[in-house]
Amino acid sequence: MRKKVTVVGAGNVGATCAQRIAERGYADVVLVDIIEGLPQGKALDMLESGPVVSSDGRLTGSNSYEDTADSDIVVITSGVPRKPGMSRDDLLFTNMEIVKGVTESVVKNSPNCIIIVVTNPLDAMAQLAFHVSKFPKNRVMGMSGILDTTRFRTFLAAELDVSVEDVFACVLGGHGDSMVPIPRLSTVGGVPITDILPPDTIERIVTRTVKGGGEIVSLLKAGSAYYAPSAAVAQMVDSILLDKKRILPCAVYLDGEYGIKGVFLSVPMKLGANGVGQIIEIKLTPEEDTALKKSAEAVRELINIMKL
Ligand code: NAI
Ligand code: 2OP
Repeated sequence: MRKKVTVVGAGNVGATCAQRIAERGYADVVLVDIIEGLPQGKALDMLESGPVVSSDGRLTGSNSYEDTADSDIVVITSGVPRKPGMSRDDLLFTNMEIVKGVTESVVKNSPNCIIIVVTNPLDAMAQLAFHVSKFPKNRVMGMSGILDTTRFRTFLAAELDVSVEDVFACVLGGHGDSMVPIPRLSTVGGVPITDILPPDTIERIVTRTVKGGGEIVSLLKAGSAYYAPSAAVAQMVDSILLDKKRILPCAVYLDGEYGIKGVFLSVPMKLGANGVGQIIEIKLTPEEDTALKKSAEAVRELINIMKL
């Protein structure tokens, strides 16, 4: 039987996710939004591109969760994006109401699905979806680390004039200013960038990575990034539905790993058909460990505000 993926939120990220997943052809996609006609119109437009892009993926748009019934994966993108000058945390109060209601509807209609949260502030919203869904920890995760590392990889590849395919980057922690890029574990052709780039160049690229989301917001002025975020979500969907068991950095519930308990943070983990698999624990330096714990505290502050 064909797999079914629901994408909630037919805005910039949601619609682009739906398109990327449908074009892969191995799953059917339901796009949901509260705005009447929006998901239906976008889904129909994408469906009509099927013959040209050689995809038999079936796409439907809906304002009702009944159409999402028995989804294998639900991607939650519903919520407001930030405007110039806003931090992701400024979105907390508006988006927590949206994510809470959406998660309740998702669980009612797809009790066995895997949830991928995209809505910001990401780690707090993943925690909220985990809390509301009461799903086991392997079935709720957030998209963040793939986006943060793909930005780091892009900037490194440009600096070194090499293919992005030969650059690996490591970023841990919350999806915000507290994220923790790890240059000593970021490599080009297997060689640590700390061996080939001067410290000030690495510092400049790390700063640009941490502020990568804000750079896009300040250029777009209305809304935030969606091409790289949707590519990251599609990579997660591939790894789950094709049981690829990729090692990918995603926001997951830490239950003592890295000495952190009860908080969603991005760390590398094995992602397959059962969702979150083994969490890869990297041996951190004392400075990196302190920065990761600080990042956990920043997420915990939002969890406390939400009274979870
Ligand atoms: P957008 O404004 O283009 O789309 C959001 C959509 O959600 C709108 O179509 C809106 O009608 C819909 N929506 C609102 N309430 C809803 C509800 N209760 N049920 C169903 N749909 C609802 O925003 P965009 O750019 O797609 O971003 C969406 C969210 O994703 C934002 O919170 C943004 O900050 C976050 N984001 C997170 C990233 C990450 O790395 N985790 C990357 C990019 C965006
Ligand atoms: C980003 O980093 C909006 O969080 C999103 O672009």
